[in-house]
Amino acid sequence: MIRMFGVSKIYRNGIKALSDINFHIKKGEFVFIVGPSGAGKSTLIKLIFREELPSSGQVIVAGRNVARLRRKDLPFFRRKIGVVFQDFRLLPDKTVFENVSFAMEVVEASKSEIRRRVPEVLELVGLRGKEKSMPSELSGGEQQRVSLARAIVNNPEIVVADEPTGNLDPETSWDIIKLLQQINLRGTTVVVATHESSIVNMLRKRVIAIEKGRIVRDQQKGVYNYES
Ligand SMILES: Nc1ncnc2c1ncn2[C@@H]1O[C@H](COP(=O)(O)OP(=O)(O)O)[C@@H](O)[C@H]1O
Ligand SMILES: [Mg+2]
Repeated sequence: MIRMFGVSKIYRNGIKALSDINFHIKKGEFVFIVGPSGAGKSTLIKLIFREELPSSGQVIVAGRNVARLRRKDLPFFRRKIGVVFQDFRLLPDKTVFENVSFAMEVVEASKSEIRRRVPEVLELVGLRGKEKSMPSELSGGEQQRVSLARAIVNNPEIVVADEPTGNLDPETSWDIIKLLQQINLRGTTVVVATHESSIVNMLRKRVIAIEKGRIVRDQQKGVYNYES
């Protein structure tokens, strides 16, 4: 589902964020990308949803080499991947319903499909009754639920999340992680970048650890640190 072959990423300022990255994440896996701040986690996530292109090597996502995608293929490609950010990135002047329905309008879903699907995902993330709320009226955990709903509304094959619990308290963080697990149990491949060791150690999922842009460990049923 997601493969990287000899991938490196050098930003325009000359910083080498990733070096010789190789892995294969299979359909239906749940994977944590861990490592200290500046290790390259966000860069790796951005390569998966083609926010950035590799400087060398190949990134293959859902059977497509991301560097070879044409402009006309991009909407279809993006539809296969749901993205969740640390800072939620909701549209502040749209309601909860509109924030989620907008993601369907962008891919030209029909009005009837939107009316059917949006309540379904809001129910799934536990936000029924909040349809008309504005993001500013929601707690951080609720805002992240909206962003999760938006990420999955088009039934993506992959969900990537970059520090999804970074702005949340521990209890709320668990709710979000449980939702990501639930999404994974429905068959979606989930990749979560985090430096929160307690969550990683509790779940015992595959862990890909990066340091200074290189993979230093790729472990099934992994923990945050070898020591812990
Ligand atoms: N857009 C960018 N331009 C230049 N350098 C960047 C950019 N994004 C990240 N970097 C640098 O790349 C390295 C890895 O960053 P990042 O992928 O954000 O790591 P992490 O998410 O693990 O903290 C850091 O040295 C960071 O400063
Ligand atoms: Mg980061």
